[in-house]
Amino acid sequence: MKVLVIGGGAREHALCRSLSLDPAVTALHCAPGNAGIAEVAELHRVDALDGAAVAALATGLDADLVVVGPEAPLVAGVADAVRAAGIPVFGPAADAARIEGSKAFAKDVMAGAGVPTARSYVCTTPDEVDEALDAFGAPYVVKDDGLAAGKGVVVTADVDAARAHANSCERVVIEEFLDGPEVSLFAITDGETVLPLQPAQDFKRALDGDEGPNTGGMGAYSPLPWADTKLVDEVLETVLQPTVDEMRRRGTPFSGLLYAGLAITGRGVRVIEFNARFGDPETQVVLARLKTPLAGVLLAAANGTLADLPPLRWSDDAAVTVVIASHHYPGTPRTGDPITGLDAVAAEDAPHAYVLHAGTRQDGDAVVSAGGRVLSVTAAGADLTEARDRAYRAVARIRLDGSQHRTDIAAKAASEA
Ligand code: AMP
Ligand code: GLY
Repeated sequence: MKVLVIGGGAREHALCRSLSLDPAVTALHCAPGNAGIAEVAELHRVDALDGAAVAALATGLDADLVVVGPEAPLVAGVADAVRAAGIPVFGPAADAARIEGSKAFAKDVMAGAGVPTARSYVCTTPDEVDEALDAFGAPYVVKDDGLAAGKGVVVTADVDAARAHANSCERVVIEEFLDGPEVSLFAITDGETVLPLQPAQDFKRALDGDEGPNTGGMGAYSPLPWADTKLVDEVLETVLQPTVDEMRRRGTPFSGLLYAGLAITGRGVRVIEFNARFGDPETQVVLARLKTPLAGVLLAAANGTLADLPPLRWSDDAAVTVVIASHHYPGTPRTGDPITGLDAVAAEDAPHAYVLHAGTRQDGDAVVSAGGRVLSVTAAGADLTEARDRAYRAVARIRLDGSQHRTDIAAKAASEA
């Protein structure tokens, strides 16, 4: 099977790594990719938001499957263009990707499907904003309706800050604050059959102890030893399957990866958000534990034949990933700095620990930083303690001037396990 992956972050590196280990994959291509993905896939240049260009590339490569990683191309209709060219594609059509692209749309789908989520108001005027903020009280949760690359949500006790964010957006969703630990649960679906993956937890704040600004994610781990063993079944039944059924009922079937961001509150599970693609950095730890070869699963989702697959097989290992970010991230990051120590990780820590690249590029003989999140150092172990130790041992070998990482990824879960 010839596979083309669209994207170039650590999520796509994790996808490419798993695909490269799948004996069914005979050729692996990625566009635009990064310096790490170049070690397992042939890279191509393409404007990932240009559906016609992606479809032409896939046709030229005679691809049997295209996997679209990030949300922006999905919302822009890249999967539709590839599908229209007659090539199976893993990733939802634009009208289904709206479940991530518009928070108000997602709320509407959840209401239709009876899926538990925070109570909310959609506001377009300052008066509506004030009314909604009043109705819920602090802490305030204010979400830009559209895609905002992880920067659209403000959670604050400060009503002026809440109001300022709301009034800076064209349309906002203001909602009830949900208390409790967060879980990311992904499901692969063909629009009808839903295969949940293993749950993971993401660390969204920049600094240790969940301090500092929100980021795209600074680390993740799986499994969640503290979670109820019935969590996955419960979320399948109350969230994932009803949402997929509702999307089909509306005539906009969702196929691809449905990401449920959940809060485990005292009153039960509530959906915080849906995404229309694999999450980053959770994918790095979820795929580290998946034993079933990936390509066949993604192709079955693309072709509508998931019901025919045997159950997914999972490793009992735990996995931890630690993100190494640039100086200033999540502000405008400094880029172009050389990264060293990657060879030492490959020599000393493989196969248990390995480095997935996010924002990197090759510059002559050097690998240099090229984005906010630069690397995602991933490790497996018999339990979270061992996986953590291995991940941080590898992190310690890597040098990137001014870089930052959290030191407490999975620490609490490991100590309680
Ligand atoms: P998002 O950009 O939708 O992933 O949201 C970013 C983060 O904001 C989430 O991971 C939560 O930590 C927080 N958040 C979003 N909605 C709520 C809510 N209703 N209550 C509490 N925290 C929230
Ligand atoms: N880890 C959060 C996200 O992918 O949106």
